[in-house]
Amino acid sequence: MLIDTKFLDLFIKVTEKAAIGASRFVGKKDKIAADKGAVDPMRNELNKLNMEGTIVIGEGEMDEAPMLYIGEKLGTLKGPKFDIAVDPLEGTKFTANNQPNAFSVIAVANKGELLSAPDTYMEKIAIGSGLPKNLLDLDYGVKKNIELLADAKNKKISDLKACVLKRPRHENIIKELNKLNVSINYITDGDIAGALSVVGKKPLNDIYYSTGGGPEGVLAAAALSCFGGQIQGRLVLDEEEKKRAKNLGIENFDAKYNLDDMIRGDVIFCASGVTSGDITDGVKDLGDKYEVSTFALHKSEKVNKTIKNIYKK
Ligand code: FBP
Repeated sequence: MLIDTKFLDLFIKVTEKAAIGASRFVGKKDKIAADKGAVDPMRNELNKLNMEGTIVIGEGEMDEAPMLYIGEKLGTLKGPKFDIAVDPLEGTKFTANNQPNAFSVIAVANKGELLSAPDTYMEKIAIGSGLPKNLLDLDYGVKKNIELLADAKNKKISDLKACVLKRPRHENIIKELNKLNVSINYITDGDIAGALSVVGKKPLNDIYYSTGGGPEGVLAAAALSCFGGQIQGRLVLDEEEKKRAKNLGIENFDAKYNLDDMIRGDVIFCASGVTSGDITDGVKDLGDKYEVSTFALHKSEKVNKTIKNIYKK
């Protein structure tokens, strides 16, 4: 089943209202307030929609998050059943410090067609479009994956660019990439944008190779699926997190999720900028109104657009 096209504009409004909410905290050095600034309007807008929405990727699980928690029902409960993944504010630090690449993001699929993952880490490899399906595998290791990618892209290994989240846990990935002479573009945060840097008209990178948030992995998968890109992810779970994963229906804790395991059908993806960045512009305060930019995708409709909307204050 496909998602009715009328929903795209409605979900765009959801992330735009969340982005405006967060924008009030840009540069205010308060990550938590900025996040809440996005969560409240996002939830209000979602509750206005004629749908039976369920959060499957959210701000946490029921007992740890007051709203937009996994399992929370949203909407008027009259209308289609949707599974919803949200990151009301991707880049809380970017917002607090007035740095680029903070945005509000949502992905929506029909019920049962989006992976529900706990808020834990996920190992991820993302690559762009036009490549053999499931080309790479986390278990192959960096060297084999890079060789396969170079071969499939008909490029020299030393011409490949990799995006890596700068963290001590990636020391080994970085060592291997350096050994192979692959150029590395580091990001300090914001790995949805990192994963999406492998697609688009002029991809900045050939591969994203890091461990970041699980929710961010599923959200990136939603956008990548609209581009024909690929991602493979594996949750990183300690004993306590395994219990939480089990509650969400995950039985195999070592499972590797390819794109089709995360996004099982049609999907809508909207990201509205809080601060300007690679994906879209940030909120502009025009005095009596706000101008908000959104990058929006709808897989079945082949929609891929960036739009600007004005909201009166
Ligand atoms: P928040 O905006 O929720 O703080 O997430 C930022 C982020 O960089 C994500 O993009 C990424 O997946 C995750 O944090 C990485 O986590 P950590 O900072 O613990 O390595």
